[in-house]
Amino acid sequence: MKNITYKNFTIHQAPSLESTNSTAFEMAKARQLFEHEIVLADQQMAGRGRMQRNWISPKGNLYFSLVMQPKVPVSKVAQLSFVAITALRLAVEEVSKGKNHLHIQNKWPNDLLINGKKVAGLLLESQNNGSECEFVVVGIGVNIASNPDNTIFPAANLKDYDIEISPLDLLYKFLDKFDNLYQHWLDFGFAGVRKLWITGCYKYKEKITLKDGDAQIEGVLEDLEDDGRVVLLTQSGWRKFSAVDVL
Ligand code: BTN
Repeated sequence: MKNITYKNFTIHQAPSLESTNSTAFEMAKARQLFEHEIVLADQQMAGRGRMQRNWISPKGNLYFSLVMQPKVPVSKVAQLSFVAITALRLAVEEVSKGKNHLHIQNKWPNDLLINGKKVAGLLLESQNNGSECEFVVVGIGVNIASNPDNTIFPAANLKDYDIEISPLDLLYKFLDKFDNLYQHWLDFGFAGVRKLWITGCYKYKEKITLKDGDAQIEGVLEDLEDDGRVVLLTQSGWRKFSAVDVL
């Protein structure tokens, strides 16, 4: 692996890996990788998405996993995925400055959309000792040059919207934003990040449909809880959800 230093981050870049999340998780577990270290791959042979899905990972897109070791209780770990996807939204907003027709949003829980199509996803995996977080791996895949067809939710890539950037430069932009937001979260907690996430939330205060196994639940997207659950106002009252999909 080639090592690149960017600010206070160390990036370990490999031409090809099964999954940057798997590599980062195993290395963090073996105490070979620590806070602010990143595994980056040009392509992944067995990229993983949420809910045991595959993440098709040909060359040309961005695939990386960032290790964090915040000294926080397990209950706060899910907040990190909102820190990271918000940082990614701010980064993509910056690289697409001037393209006013683009609507860049985060979709609960951790997708990034442009004009209603998914351009990036995030997979958080962590280890704890029962009460405290030991490490967190946040894996992000961004469709820069291509995207798969036939996805449950329509997908697109940055090139479709004339956003020209290399995977490494986009990672740097992400790290610029992440660095600030992560520090803010460590110093002041979740409130500011939650607010920022909500300002870019897809279908906020609108009717959405959640897919929970075979069931579909309709309701108005009202809020984001501190534990990362989404709050819906349904016909049967307020309900909170964690591991579901927004259709
Ligand atoms: C999703 O939307 O389902 C999450 C996709 C996460 C994909 C990224 S690509 C880099 C990292 N390594 C993986 O195997 N998965 C994540």
